[in-house]
Amino acid sequence: MKQTLSQIPVDPGSLETTRTNASFTGFFEGAVRKKTLALIFLFMLQLPVLYVLYTSQISDFVKTRQEIVSRNEATSIKLISKICANETCKNANDLFKLRNWAQKYPLRSTIRKMVDKIQVDQKTQMSSADTNVKNNSDNLASENQVETTHTFSTILPETNNSTGASSATVSTTVQITTPTLASSTSKQSEESNKVNILPDCPETPPDLQGPIDVSFGHVAPEMKKMEGDNPLVKDGGHYKPPYCKALSKVAVIIPYRDRVEHLHYFLEYMHPTLQRQQLDYAIYIINQAGTGKFNRAKLMNIGYVESLKDYNFECFVFHDVDLVLENDKSLYSCPAKPRHLSAAVDKFNYVLPYGAIFGGVTELTKEQFEKANGYSNTFWGWGGEDDDMYNRVKFSGMEISRYPIEISRYKMISHAREKGNEPNPKRFDMIRQTASTMKTDGLNSLSYKLLSKEKHQLYTNVTVDVLVPAT
Ligand SMILES: *[C@@H]1O[C@H](CO)[C@@H](O)[C@H](O)[C@H]1NC(C)=O
Ligand SMILES: *[C@@H]1O[C@H](CO)[C@@H](O)[C@H](O)[C@H]1NC(C)=O
Ligand SMILES: *[C@@H]1O[C@H](CO)[C@@H](O)[C@H](O)[C@H]1NC(C)=O
Ligand SMILES: *[C@@H]1O[C@H](CO)[C@@H](O)[C@H](O)[C@H]1NC(C)=O
Ligand SMILES: *[C@@H]1O[C@H](CO)[C@@H](O)[C@H](O)[C@H]1NC(C)=O
Repeated sequence: MKQTLSQIPVDPGSLETTRTNASFTGFFEGAVRKKTLALIFLFMLQLPVLYVLYTSQISDFVKTRQEIVSRNEATSIKLISKICANETCKNANDLFKLRNWAQKYPLRSTIRKMVDKIQVDQKTQMSSADTNVKNNSDNLASENQVETTHTFSTILPETNNSTGASSATVSTTVQITTPTLASSTSKQSEESNKVNILPDCPETPPDLQGPIDVSFGHVAPEMKKMEGDNPLVKDGGHYKPPYCKALSKVAVIIPYRDRVEHLHYFLEYMHPTLQRQQLDYAIYIINQAGTGKFNRAKLMNIGYVESLKDYNFECFVFHDVDLVLENDKSLYSCPAKPRHLSAAVDKFNYVLPYGAIFGGVTELTKEQFEKANGYSNTFWGWGGEDDDMYNRVKFSGMEISRYPIEISRYKMISHAREKGNEPNPKRFDMIRQTASTMKTDGLNSLSYKLLSKEKHQLYTNVTVDVLVPAT
């Protein structure tokens, strides 16, 4: 090739074209040409095979490719209007799917606004609203729904914005007007008669990721940053899934005193986890004022009472602030039996220390907690109150339950035991008497003084005087 080039007389005016022609000719001389032609021939033999693959087996992929290429608003709008034309969906499930999709994929804000505007068609909804909501699980499995999901899943993100930030403005309820009001001309009465028709969230939350990489090697993030990262959590650390009705209303109750760094780690990891679990939940810290002896159990009773003043929670997770869940499949949903959640803690080499352990992180429904008369109020200092609670559960005719050890994993933030929380020497005696004391010591004998209740974006701070007895 070089030889051929050098033989060509240099003509500045036509150098480029000449050189190209020359190399082309040279290239196709001799053995090289034969090899190349053979290669091209072999390649052409493959074409029909490639074509068949391309058009049949990977046609879905092709579709997706085309959508990547035309990443524009028109594509999204077309797909949206296929499902819900003219700003209305025929039924609540279609709208649910649409909003779910809008939540999952980062979209241009114009598209997001468009989705927000879409309502359920009043005419078709009137006849099918109840059916759609109540028979939601059937509908989700129907062929029509599968088809719809498929269509949505091929749409690709148009921006790299995380869904959180922009979905903050998404309205949290699907609203329809009642039949009588459909004919009403008064805007005001329409507003006041909107009905919440969100379908139930699925039994298995779709966005669970399994193991979570938890570490405390970094400096815990600033509150402001975490607030920005969790825009849908508000009003005292309360979150509800925006597109479906949560299956459990859960208060997370944290007995607390002076552990601000732990609280930051806790909020950093637990808020995203609990949102993925699609719970209607809120986080409460029950902050013991003063420096007197700590009373973990009483603080939990107080958390139970105070959280119920705010919302009709159905179950209660009693959670040490220094434990962070390492697997989001360990759902904090309402348990059928009182549940011990922190079965495998790194501090204990992820082994259950003893079968009757019921400390760290536990969860009970309102009924279960009432049945046990809550926790004892009389355990001052460290230890015993959790074993006493185990007894209460047992003596109330209930059993405890646990998730498999592989998913009930927690990492503990290491710390020294603080002043005011020294081991309680009376604890062993007290545990032996649960059967007789539990009737008169517990929720029915709880007394405390509420000092303040502050609603921050990511948690509610309930500060109390637990009325430490004079010694
Ligand atoms: C949407 O609106 C267009 C034009 O206004 C109309 O032709 C079409 O039938 C409507 N589609 C539905 C599903 O109502
Ligand atoms: C829900 O579905 C069941 C069976 O599929 C049916 O018997 C029931 O009437 C449906 N409920 C409503 C509200 O339509
Ligand atoms: C998002 O886009 C910005 C700039 O457009 C880029 O710097 C950033 O790395 C992107 N983030 C992700 C997660 O893709
Ligand atoms: C990304 O989100 C931010 C905050 O919500 C917003 O200001 C910005 O315009 C968004 N960017 C794009 C490309 O949508
Ligand atoms: C909770 O409220 C009390 C009383 O206002 C305050 O002293 C304390 O710092 C607050 N703690 C947190 C973590 O917000």
